[in-house]
Amino acid sequence: MDATPAVEFRNVSKAFGEVRALQDLTFAVPRGNIHGLLGENGAGKSTLMNILYGLYSPDGGELYLEGKRTSIRSPFDSIRHGIGMVHQVSTLVGEFDAVENIIIGTKGNSFSLPIAAERARVEEICSRFGLQFPLDIKAKELSAGIKQKIEIVRALYREARLLILDEPTTSLVESEFLQLLESLQVLVKDGVTVIFITHKIKEVMEACASVAVLRKGRLQGVLSHEEMTKESLVKLMFQEKDIQVNESALPQVELPPTTRAEEPVLRLLDVTTSGSEGKRNLKSVSLELYSGEILGVAAVSGNGEKELAQVLVDPRRLAGGDIRLDGRSIRRLSTPEVLARGLAYTPEDRIQEGILPDASITDNILLGHHAEKRFLGGGSFVRWNSVRNAARKVIEDYDVHTPSEALNIRRLSGGNIQKVIVGRAYVSEVKVLVTHNPTSGLDISTVKFIFGKLVETRNGGGAVLWINEDLDELMIICDRIAVLHDGKLRAVFTRGQFDKYRIGLMMIGGDE
Ligand SMILES: Nc1ncnc2c1ncn2[C@@H]1O[C@H](COP(=O)(O)OP(=O)(O)OP(=O)(O)O)[C@@H](O)[C@H]1O
Ligand SMILES: [Mg+2]
Repeated sequence: MDATPAVEFRNVSKAFGEVRALQDLTFAVPRGNIHGLLGENGAGKSTLMNILYGLYSPDGGELYLEGKRTSIRSPFDSIRHGIGMVHQVSTLVGEFDAVENIIIGTKGNSFSLPIAAERARVEEICSRFGLQFPLDIKAKELSAGIKQKIEIVRALYREARLLILDEPTTSLVESEFLQLLESLQVLVKDGVTVIFITHKIKEVMEACASVAVLRKGRLQGVLSHEEMTKESLVKLMFQEKDIQVNESALPQVELPPTTRAEEPVLRLLDVTTSGSEGKRNLKSVSLELYSGEILGVAAVSGNGEKELAQVLVDPRRLAGGDIRLDGRSIRRLSTPEVLARGLAYTPEDRIQEGILPDASITDNILLGHHAEKRFLGGGSFVRWNSVRNAARKVIEDYDVHTPSEALNIRRLSGGNIQKVIVGRAYVSEVKVLVTHNPTSGLDISTVKFIFGKLVETRNGGGAVLWINEDLDELMIICDRIAVLHDGKLRAVFTRGQFDKYRIGLMMIGGDE
């Protein structure tokens, strides 16, 4: 067998200003199979793959493709060399359907795409690799899982032989992950090499023939499938930190018994929404949340979970039913009024909805708290000193990696942005925390930190409503798990009755 690797990195380095994102990195990715690239937030995974894809040029070092030294100056170059990349954030054009998105940039121009002729080829690729999705629906209407399949088909349509997937599973539920894995295995049989970036150790162990682990821009080691254990991978990723993991390779957190309050702190009564299309709307959802508990809401993206979060912070969206906080209806309250009553919120999409990307960390800390007395001077002047102190406290308490609170928040890594968002929620007293996918895309050290925060809130007599797609995570620290599917509440399980298979089945509409 020809043992020439698909890709070889030799002494690759890259710095962004003072940040040394990659330092003298040398390793090879064998041909064929699925190979993992693992590392904590900010380890340099995306940077390395962006170099391979021609988006960044390295400061030093060499790249070998199929044994030949190659310099890749642009994505156009890399596509020509048979490299395809699916980025961390979808790059599809929202107004275009799948076929348009797949062929754009390769055939004709955006004004005259040869749709009919190419559609058949797209269909052929889809059926060959088991990647099925509607071809005629605009991308903006599609779920994250489907958009990702479209991006994979786009790479295959461009004849990729090396496929880079940058955290493809961040917004996939387990059944979707297994589907993706099946398709990737068909690709591998066809001779394609896949580089798979993820934070999830369990996925690396299930999917990858080998894995390279990065830490702070340096290679920590390459393990073969046989050498992979949860412990060996955690150790390579985090070195000195002591992180205990459970059987799903997620952080282990203690959940001491608490007594839950008699009366619910938050009560949803026949909550119905009408703002979105189809199954995304909530249909007569009734649910109680008690102080001293973490209530998980398990839902596959697009089943009303977003509307649930939104209606809680903006009850005026209610089309029917009522929401009571501390026994009083909040249906006529605006978002600032709801927040002032002690409800804190961390949104799903941290970049789009969670922050002002071009503003400083300090400015971002003020968001949602701007009407609070301690931040207001005379008139409507902001006491910037107080806000700055609050920002500094969040940076310190949450171990946010940043040179200063004046930095534009978009320059932080995903995990550090999320820490600021969670820290901001706790700037004033939290009675009820509504949090939507707070751990998405975060390394397990940060996940452990967030779990700790949720448990702390619960133990201190607060209540947490945790909307999440990852059932493994929910099962670790939830007192109860409610399942939302098709906008309806299917069931509520109590700790001790958690049955992963049954809950998972309900999430996708089974077990009626
Ligand atoms: N365009 C950029 N400008 C400045 N700094 C950057 C840029 N891209 C990455 N960095 C920095 O380089 C380091 C490596 O970032 P990179 O995005 O490669 O990490 P990652 O391993 O992909 O992390 P994550 O798991 O959070 O996606 C980080 O410290 C990051 O802040
Ligand atoms: Mg990344």
